[in-house]
Amino acid sequence: MKEFKRTLITTALPYANGPVHIGHLAGVYVPADIYARYLRLKGEEVLMIGGSDEHGVPITIKAKKEGVTPQDIVDRYHNIIKDSFEGLGISFDVYGRTTSETHRKTASEFFKTLYDKGEFIEKTSMQLYDEEANQFLADRYVTGTCPHCGNPNAYGDQCEACGTSLNATDLIDPKSALTGNTPVLKETSHWYLPLDKWQSRLEEWILKDHTEWRSNVYGQCKSWLEMGLQPRAVSRDLDWGIPVPVEGAEGKVLYVWFDAPIGYISNTIDLVGDDYTKWWKDPETRMLHFIGKDNIVFHCIVFPSMLMAEGSYNLPDNVPANEFLNLEDDKISTSRNWAVWLHEYLEEFPGKQDVLRYVLTANAPETKDNNFTWKDFQTRNNSELVAILGNFVNRAVVLTHKYFGGEVPAAGELGEPELALIAEINKLKDELSEALDNFHFREGLRLAMDMARAGNKYLQETEPWKTAKSDMARTATILNTAIQMCANLSIAFEPFLPFMSAKLVKMLGGDKITWAMLGCFDLVPAGAKIGEPELLFEKIEDSVVEAQVKKLEDTKKANELLAWKPEPVKPDVDFETFEKIDIRVGKVLECKKVKKSKKLLQFLIEDGMGTRTILSGIAQSYEDPSVLVGKEICFVANFAPRKMMGIESQGMIMSAVNPDGTLTVIGPTGPVHPGSQVG
Ligand code: MF3
Ligand code: ZN
Repeated sequence: MKEFKRTLITTALPYANGPVHIGHLAGVYVPADIYARYLRLKGEEVLMIGGSDEHGVPITIKAKKEGVTPQDIVDRYHNIIKDSFEGLGISFDVYGRTTSETHRKTASEFFKTLYDKGEFIEKTSMQLYDEEANQFLADRYVTGTCPHCGNPNAYGDQCEACGTSLNATDLIDPKSALTGNTPVLKETSHWYLPLDKWQSRLEEWILKDHTEWRSNVYGQCKSWLEMGLQPRAVSRDLDWGIPVPVEGAEGKVLYVWFDAPIGYISNTIDLVGDDYTKWWKDPETRMLHFIGKDNIVFHCIVFPSMLMAEGSYNLPDNVPANEFLNLEDDKISTSRNWAVWLHEYLEEFPGKQDVLRYVLTANAPETKDNNFTWKDFQTRNNSELVAILGNFVNRAVVLTHKYFGGEVPAAGELGEPELALIAEINKLKDELSEALDNFHFREGLRLAMDMARAGNKYLQETEPWKTAKSDMARTATILNTAIQMCANLSIAFEPFLPFMSAKLVKMLGGDKITWAMLGCFDLVPAGAKIGEPELLFEKIEDSVVEAQVKKLEDTKKANELLAWKPEPVKPDVDFETFEKIDIRVGKVLECKKVKKSKKLLQFLIEDGMGTRTILSGIAQSYEDPSVLVGKEICFVANFAPRKMMGIESQGMIMSAVNPDGTLTVIGPTGPVHPGSQVG
């Protein structure tokens, strides 16, 4: 493997048109942060670059909907996103934004360089145009049917159902997202980056030289290259974005996917000024792009082509892209509000940043899509963080206080259990380092947890609470070892659970930790005073996760309501047919569940002539049927009697079907005498 002097880590710039959710975190920011922290612990020179992607059509659509400017939208979300990342301990060295002056300048100059070198083709073509809005429609301004899979809601840049990337003019039956009109074709000219020019260099660089890339990344690149690359437009007819910096380009801006990755460069410049060349152009610097799978083509094909066309930049050394994280078995969606939002999590679970980091890493969608459920969140917290990691540290610290007044005892001669533990931790350290070196964060977390398991097993075997009765020297050795073990855990877990680690380091009276210290058992000196035992994790109760599930169910209901359409009206009937049905008002005297039936309620109705019994299949809509007693309702009085569960039903209660399938009994809106006819 090639040796590098330093590492530049970039993280996909999230669109500033909404807050960040667990899908973003699991796919990009948590793994990038784990890796950056790991390298820093190893003492390596590293920068982790982040920032908001503030151009592009979705932002202008959102602004229009809310009646505010695009700048208002990006100001709002940039701040929410930036603060919430900080809250979760994502350790960016810089978190910039693509509306900054540095970025405008950097991106313009980049375009200008390529333009002056003749790297673009200028082409006139027919593009979709909305005559009512007086605007060209690119990307998400158009929806229509996907020509590949038939999804009727594909966007002008991509079909989210089959993942194909599209041109707006590919859509079947396109509609303007601005007015709903069918657009017309109108001539316009744009600049294109001829990706085909770079085809053979890309093939060489990826398919031959980077066979070690994750198979999902390598495979996607291979299939793009096999299809044959085409020139790609790098400008758009829009008024939100960075103006195309050449004469005669009024009303045209850089395509968002042209300017956004340059944001990695601009944000580096904001951080280190002219020194950015060291991070971007020195061949001894290694560049890594952390992204989600929908970004692969842009980071492995388009951006590298831009960098090659410019000529003086490094190409990424690896692109450890992740698959997607689902939420409760359903695709995460910003527009459907099907997500766990980071800023809300931080508010609702104060002090529990590491729990989310842990669960997202344990379920990292590294090789295939994965799933987040609140039940699993609770289980992993209670039976892993609390029961294994928290429990070990707590026992070690509490026993040291109990038997040695909180002062770390000196170890005597190490016995077989100590030597076995030290060997085990060193073996796990090697495996953990290797997992992290290869971006296998899920496995890395499991290995760190195995260290805590080894600690518990050690205490279980050596039983210091028993030796304390007869052999204090032996007890001293055991608890010294247990405290050293705690120090080891504070290091091994730092990349994953930095808040826990900091707390533990402080509890042990430690200061700076490094990866080199991991595996050593003389980290906390004998005689050191350790802090009071503090719980590192606490149990999460059922009610807490139930409330979160309820919140999601409410979202689902709200979505169903939005998507609900009434049944089409049935064919006409004439008056005589209608008149045959005798609908009456009745008063409910009794209403109860029918024994052994899930569906049936049994009504006793006062119908003006006497009483009658009616059965109705609405039990699942009324948890407490007694709420209907005393109510006036409508029923069909001449519905032929039928027997169900041994009871004769003499009519039919009228009820309306709600969008969620539940039924509501209907009745008069004012006082009506029982037996009155309805018609
Ligand atoms: N905003 C894009 C997304 O969320 C990612 C941009 S990554 C960058 O899919 F490289 F362009 F910055
Ligand atoms: Zn499709």
